[in-house]
Amino acid sequence: MIPSAERQEILKHKPATLWEGEPRLGSACGGEEIEAAVAAMRDSEDVGRGFTGPQIQNFEQAFAAYIGTKHAIAMNSAGPGLDTAMRWLNLQPGDEIIVPAVNFVASPLAVAGAGGQVIWGEVDPRTLQLDPNDVERRITPRTRAIFPVHMNGLAAPMDDFLELARRHPHQKHGPLAVIGDAARACGGEYKGGKLGKRGLMTVFSFHTMKHMVTLGEGGMVTTDDDEVAHFVRASRFYGFDDMELWGSSYVMNKVQAAVGLVQLGKLDGFIAARRRLAQTRAAMLADISELSLPFEPADCLHTYYLYTCLVCKEWAGEKRNRLMKMMDEVYGVRLLVANPPAYAVHHFLRRHTAGQSLPLSEELGARLFCIPTHPAMSDEDNAYIAAALIESIEALR
Ligand SMILES: Cc1ncc(COP(=O)(O)O)c(C=O)c1O
Repeated sequence: MIPSAERQEILKHKPATLWEGEPRLGSACGGEEIEAAVAAMRDSEDVGRGFTGPQIQNFEQAFAAYIGTKHAIAMNSAGPGLDTAMRWLNLQPGDEIIVPAVNFVASPLAVAGAGGQVIWGEVDPRTLQLDPNDVERRITPRTRAIFPVHMNGLAAPMDDFLELARRHPHQKHGPLAVIGDAARACGGEYKGGKLGKRGLMTVFSFHTMKHMVTLGEGGMVTTDDDEVAHFVRASRFYGFDDMELWGSSYVMNKVQAAVGLVQLGKLDGFIAARRRLAQTRAAMLADISELSLPFEPADCLHTYYLYTCLVCKEWAGEKRNRLMKMMDEVYGVRLLVANPPAYAVHHFLRRHTAGQSLPLSEELGARLFCIPTHPAMSDEDNAYIAAALIESIEALR
C-alpha cells in the first residue's frame, strides 16, 4: 500500500483526464489507422466501400491466425454475432441456455431473441466468471448450451464447461454447445492459447470501448467448425452464401477492416500496457482489508478490460456507493459498477426470467466496482487513482 506521506505528494498532481471506470475509448488510434482508412477509401472509389474487397478477407485471415482458429467471420458488431450463434442452435420453445447473471445484457438478450429460455448461473466471486459447479446444478433435459462470458477481460473456465457439456448431453442434439462471449477479452489467454479457440464458436467486439476497435463498431466470430462458419457467413448477408438459409445484413465494411488489421497488430501491446498498470496498481492497493483486487488464475492471461474490485460484505451497497461518490466528487475519478445481475437492470430480462433470483450474484452486484484502466494511462495517473482510493477508504472507515 502507498504510505500516507507519499499519498499526499501524489495527490497534488490531479490528472488532466477525467478517468471513468470504463473509458469511452478502449483502444488508441493514431496515424496508421487513419492512413489505412484513407487507403481503403481511395482503393474503393470505383468499386464502393461496402462488403467485398481484400481488406475484409485480410482482416479475417489475420484474426483467425492470431486466435488459432480455422475461421474468423467479420461482423458489424458483437450483438449480431451472438444472435447468429443462438440462431445456429435452432432453439425450440422451452430450450434452456445457461448464462452468467453478473453479465452485460447482450448474451441473455441473444438467447431470448432466438426463442430460448435464459437460465441464470452464479459466478465465482474470485474471478467473476460463470461457476461450473453452479452450472452443473442447473442443467436439465431442456438445456441446449452453456454460454460463458469472458467477463472483464479474463477467461472463463472453458475446459470445465466442455467437460460438463460432454457429461450431460442433450437427448436429441448430443453434447451441449459451449459458446463464448469474448467481447471484452480480445487477446486474453487461457491455458497457453488465445481465447476464442475452445468451444463451438466465440464472439468478439471491436466497439469503441473495447481492446481493439474498428471505427466505432465491429465484431468477429471465430470457429473451427466448417458448418458453423458457413452458417455465420450465410446469415451475415441475406443468405447469399446459401440460399437455403435465412440472412440479414450484418456486414463490416472494408474501411473498418483495414483499420482492424492495424489495430490487431497493436493489440498485444495494448494488453501489455494494461497489465503493467494492473500490476503496479495491485502493489499500491495491497493489504487494504476492505478491498479484494482482481484475481488472475495461473492458467490465464488477464487483459484487465475492467479492473474490477470488491468491497467487503460490510461495505456492500450504501457504503460502496459512498466510496464511489467520494472518488468522483473529491478526486474527480469515476468508478463504475459493471455489472450487477443483468436482470436487475434490464426490464425485459427481468420479465423473461421472472422467478429466478441469484443471491450470490446480487450480493456481488452490491460489492463490485471498476477502477479506470486504459493502455494510454500514465503511471502518475495510475498512482493518483490508487492514492485517492486509499484516502477515500480511510475516510469512510
Ligand atoms: C460482454 C459483452 N458482450 C457483448 C457486447 C456487445 O458488443 P457490441 O457492442 O459489439 O455489440 C458487449 C459490449 O459492451 C459486452 O461487454
